[in-house]
Amino acid sequence: MNDLEKRIAWGLTGSGHYLKESMEIIKSLDNVDLFLSKAGYEVLKWYDYDLKDLKKDGIKVFKDVTASSAPVSLFYEDIYKLLVIAPATSNTVAQMAYGMSDNLITNIFAQAGKCNIHSIVFACDTEPVVITEAPKKMVTLYPREIDLKNYKLLKEFKNTDVVKHVTELKSALKKWT
Ligand SMILES: Cc1cc2nc3c(=O)[nH]c(=O)nc-3n(C[C@H](O)[C@H](O)[C@H](O)COP(=O)(O)O)c2cc1C
Repeated sequence: MNDLEKRIAWGLTGSGHYLKESMEIIKSLDNVDLFLSKAGYEVLKWYDYDLKDLKKDGIKVFKDVTASSAPVSLFYEDIYKLLVIAPATSNTVAQMAYGMSDNLITNIFAQAGKCNIHSIVFACDTEPVVITEAPKKMVTLYPREIDLKNYKLLKEFKNTDVVKHVTELKSALKKWT
């Protein structure tokens, strides 16, 4: 299968920050399979997204319902050209930075790495001050030193672009879409 025929695996975690922007990009692409963390599945509802609408748009959705992250076997089928994790919570960034892979999202990141599939991670906590959209209002957050340290650590990973703005995400995606 050549890269034009291959699909994009998109991991969505439990982040309200940049959720709307990520969802707009997902809907604009026509070759995306969506992988949800347990929190990602819940947070979609907080922001009034309905999975049925995504499925109607032809997006395949995989939820995190097995201990072994069964859908990761798709990464061995040579059907994905790219993994995008957007938005990525500080929790997921921390786990990935330290090589953990005990849930669906951290597992697809690990498997993408082991299969030489390029990854783009859109991290949430990348600056000392973040203004973000909570379900009912805007809030100002102050990511901890450990959150910023984990983000920097992940940036060192090979075959991985870690981006912090929507514009950076869009330009990293251009090469693959
Ligand atoms: C409405 C809502 C919005 C949230 N937004 C964020 C966020 O922007 N960034 C973040 O790091 N965590 C956020 N969280 C907390 C995460 O969902 C929580 O840490 C969860 O354990 C992350 O799991 P995951 O990384 O496996 O998706 C939010 C939680 C809720 C209920």
